[in-house]
Amino acid sequence: MNPRFRIGAEGVGEIAFDDPHRSQNVLTKEVMERLDDALAEAEATAAQGALRALLLTSAKPRSFIAGADVGAIAAVTDADAGKREARAGQAIFSRLAALPVPTVAAVRGVCLGGGTELALACDWRVAASGDDTRLGLPEVQLGILPAWGGTTRLPRLVGLRAALGLLLSGKPASASKAKRIGLVDQVFPVEQFDDRCRAFASDLRPRSTPKRRGPVAWFLDGTPVGRAIVMRTARKQVLARTGGHYPAPLKVLEVVRGSGGRSVAAGLELEARAAAELLVSPACRNLLFLFGMRERARKGPWTEDGEAARVERLAVIGAGVMGGGIAQLAAYRDIPARMKDIRHEAVLGGLAHARSLFDGAVRRRKLRRREAERKMALVSGGVEYGGFGQAGLVVEAVVERIDVKRVVLAEAEAAMDPEAVLATNTSSLLVDEMAASLSRPGKFAGMHFFNPVHRMPLVEVVRGEATHPDTVETIAALAARLGKVPVVTRDGPGFLVNRILGACLNEAGHMLGEGMDVRAVDRAWTRFGMPMGPYRLIDEVGIDVATHAGATLGKAFGERMAPAPALVSLAKSGRLGRKGGRGFYHYKQGKQQGFDSTVYREMGLDAPRSGVRAGEVVERLVLAMVNEAGRVLEDRIVASAADVDLGMVMGTGFPPFRGGLLKYADDRGTRDVLAALNALHQRFGARLEPCRVVKELGESGTAFHAAFPPVRGKAAVLGKA
Ligand code: NAI
Repeated sequence: MNPRFRIGAEGVGEIAFDDPHRSQNVLTKEVMERLDDALAEAEATAAQGALRALLLTSAKPRSFIAGADVGAIAAVTDADAGKREARAGQAIFSRLAALPVPTVAAVRGVCLGGGTELALACDWRVAASGDDTRLGLPEVQLGILPAWGGTTRLPRLVGLRAALGLLLSGKPASASKAKRIGLVDQVFPVEQFDDRCRAFASDLRPRSTPKRRGPVAWFLDGTPVGRAIVMRTARKQVLARTGGHYPAPLKVLEVVRGSGGRSVAAGLELEARAAAELLVSPACRNLLFLFGMRERARKGPWTEDGEAARVERLAVIGAGVMGGGIAQLAAYRDIPARMKDIRHEAVLGGLAHARSLFDGAVRRRKLRRREAERKMALVSGGVEYGGFGQAGLVVEAVVERIDVKRVVLAEAEAAMDPEAVLATNTSSLLVDEMAASLSRPGKFAGMHFFNPVHRMPLVEVVRGEATHPDTVETIAALAARLGKVPVVTRDGPGFLVNRILGACLNEAGHMLGEGMDVRAVDRAWTRFGMPMGPYRLIDEVGIDVATHAGATLGKAFGERMAPAPALVSLAKSGRLGRKGGRGFYHYKQGKQQGFDSTVYREMGLDAPRSGVRAGEVVERLVLAMVNEAGRVLEDRIVASAADVDLGMVMGTGFPPFRGGLLKYADDRGTRDVLAALNALHQRFGARLEPCRVVKELGESGTAFHAAFPPVRGKAAVLGKA
């Protein structure tokens, strides 16, 4: 029975959550119904005078309640049903709130979404110390809002500003932050948590009056004028951050404003109505769709019959930007990592890079100093292969040269445990070319991290011809443990993401050659929802690196990917992009300054051609990508449209509210996509000619996601192209 009500010593009752089938407690429909029954038992016990206080606990040491069942939320596609579901959940939490005895939520571990709303319906909240405890309301990240009372109760408890901070970002708070803002009343040491909670519940005194707050807080949270200022500022920030593409945070503001000064009941009604409206919005549908794809990709299995070996230690060859980042990430997740480079200075550089990332985590309060030091001690380095024999996985991240990589990989094979897995982080060389000179090619694959490693959520797991399924499983499982989303691809130039992105950046190169206004193009692309425009991105990657990658794709795919001449001549001009202080934009100490208008001169122009149409810019860039994605599916680089979409969202920041590149194409309709590509083909020639898959789907009006559905383990059985 989950949850279960029982009565303990001194009339202190407990409702304990412990889902026997999951590692985390989730508020599924059954669990909510059971909670309702447990509350009825508590009511009856209280009516007999046998209940003095009630604790809500979890038997799982690191998880209180992870939230509602997202799959069930996604299954509701009708606004009326959405509202009914919200009201039903609210009714159960209101029953908890109305219990005649004091109620205490004892939060140890993850407490998110519905878990936090349950805690908010209690009279008191106590939390366990330590990094496992996090309280938050991440609903906006799924395009909805907390609709089991969270949007209504949180501002009443912690004040307007602190509430908006949690509701609008969706980011969780640590136990100490929760205490600071008044979300929890007490933090108890995790080792004594159960005893302290029981003592707390049996010794409850009447609630003390709220702390006196300073005049600023009183003004901003408590007066109509102050509240109006807070709301206006928050709205401005939301619009700046989301470009107006995400309706959920705006709805949060609407509900919080509308329910301010009114009863909880009135707030709950507003909240349920707003949630129902959001639930059927395209942005929410797409975010939920993406969430489902991501969860599947992170769970595995990733092959039909492979078995993962658990990696206890990692070794990294090359202590540069990527090597240092990979070692730090492993250590962050408590996996010891050993770096090897050819130069002592490079090893020191890798260690310094890892340290600066840990320092950043401490600054952003993601880690305590002591924890950061403990984790940093898991990173070590040297110029020898010492310690490689103990590593379950060795990742090669040396310079992007096949001759160097071949030597290094052979050395690694000799130094490592024959049972361990070897991976390359190459972004533009072929896995099979490297495998050819290895003695254990079955134990070798690509493990392609993106830069910066600690921030980019994608890892492409590149399966070569000879790669054994166990190798794929081991690498993908480790990527998931490192908090990344693994997408399994076949070997091929640019793998999945860089190939599709290459088509987009090259199209931008052609636009440059036509004399288009650089800033206008970048603006059009960010308005579409991309994190940055194509030229700003080329600066970021490095003009030299981008053109080199472009040349590789051009060589592999022929004329349609031939590097745009404007980009080639720009690279020759010596501009490097951000790292060199100058590209399309100026940079000072790595920060973007202004636009560099002399860039047009490299094209033989004094000024850009006027009259850029944003619609045309977006059309060319996005359809170039959709078309290349069609070819990627044709070549069986990945098995499903979901793999393409996850790759593009996690690897390039393709706007999540659009659900992914091919979800965008599907929503628009493949017939329309084909017609638009045909028109571009007429105007711009062969590089934009619709590929076979786009033609076939467009002619029959079939969606990409219907034609290329996700199949468990399918990535592993990808046939030959
Ligand atoms: P980097 O130049 O920062 O680091 C390369 C390191 O390899 C240097 O410290 C160098 O001393 C070391 N090295 C060279 N020869 C070696 C040898 N024989 N044995 C041991 N170490 C050796 O390069 P970065 O950017 O870290 O790239 C490394 C790899 O990661 C490349 O294959 C690159 O394609 C790939 N990659 C790079 C990305 C990026 O954005 N920088 C993104 C994804 C992959």
